[in-house]
Amino acid sequence: MQVTVIVPTFNEAPNVAELVQRVSAATVGLEAEILFVDDSTDATPAAVAAAAATAAIPVRLIHRDRPTGGLGGAVVAGLRAAAFDVCIVMDGDLQHPPEEIPTLIDRYERGEVDVVVASRYSGTGSAAGLADRTRIAVSKLSTALTKAMFPIRLKDVSDPMTGFFLVDRRSIDVDALRPHGFKILLELLARRPLRVCEVPFEFADRHAGASKASLREGLHFFAQLTSLRFGKMSLFAIIGGLGAIVNLLIVWLLARAGVGDIFAMIVAAEVTILGNFVLQERFVFSDMKSDASGVWSRFAKSFAFNNTELLVRIPITALMISTWHLSVVIATAITLVVAFLVRFMFHSLVVYA
Ligand code: GDD
Ligand code: MN
Repeated sequence: MQVTVIVPTFNEAPNVAELVQRVSAATVGLEAEILFVDDSTDATPAAVAAAAATAAIPVRLIHRDRPTGGLGGAVVAGLRAAAFDVCIVMDGDLQHPPEEIPTLIDRYERGEVDVVVASRYSGTGSAAGLADRTRIAVSKLSTALTKAMFPIRLKDVSDPMTGFFLVDRRSIDVDALRPHGFKILLELLARRPLRVCEVPFEFADRHAGASKASLREGLHFFAQLTSLRFGKMSLFAIIGGLGAIVNLLIVWLLARAGVGDIFAMIVAAEVTILGNFVLQERFVFSDMKSDASGVWSRFAKSFAFNNTELLVRIPITALMISTWHLSVVIATAITLVVAFLVRFMFHSLVVYA
């Protein structure tokens, strides 16, 4: 049995030595390697090199100078570079006990599965190591939401957000993955039907250092969930919808304050154009951006498009107001809906092409 243990790391220097030691001990009798995929700014690479020098099994390091896709991107880079097809993905902070590796392998070797999920929520599993009650609640809630959104694919999976699992690389299409942030297993399971089974495990306390989970990761998670399930269009629609509400609110407030219709529409449009661009960059097209330096060029295209749209939309809206005697809010609402579809096509085909 050959296995690559993929460990994504971000500033885990104090945990590396113990991890290598415990993974080596847990893989005695297998042909195993440890592959660190590291985005650290601390001494993790040096710690890996030191541990590799005395380790009982091969230890490799990929250090990414220009990391993309966060934790998920690191895992995908690991899947590409792994020496063996059977890969185990686990965290570098020892919250995933290396002693469970034989359990995952045993289950895989019994056959008929592509993925073995180490679950905190099945059988004797436990999420105690999540430390505080808020995180446990958030984790349970988002797990329930996720399962509700993928009722068939996740039928037999109690913990689609775990970072501890075995995957046979031959069963997945690595090139089709668009990882972003923490939930790489969810993406694997959502993209295509796989044969999945679970083994319970106890999520341990962090060995050293602090978690990299954050509100920002949480927002990325919801963005990923929506776009995996309903496609990018839906996420674009949610942000566009929010923008339209803000737009109408501004028009309404300014109209009430006695500001002229056209001026109100322009102010409202410019505010939402800026807000929408920031949200789109962050959440909708984040996996399609070629690089961060192009942000101004994307902004220029998006800004030019939206202002052209505005130039067309204002006279049409004004015409609707005068011929049909609509209120400025209603007329703006109608033209915003039409503009939305055109805008989505332009952004996905031109701005983020
Ligand atoms: N290469 C790389 N790049 N590694 C990263 C990055 C990154 O941007 N961000 C985090 N990591 C590494 C950490 O160094 C650690 O080894 C592992 O990914 C998990 O990160 P933690 O910061 O320890 O996350 P956690 O313990 O809060 O979250 C765990 O539980 C979640 C479910 O509640 C992880 O197992 C998640 O994968 C899991 O979804
Ligand atoms: Mn952790």
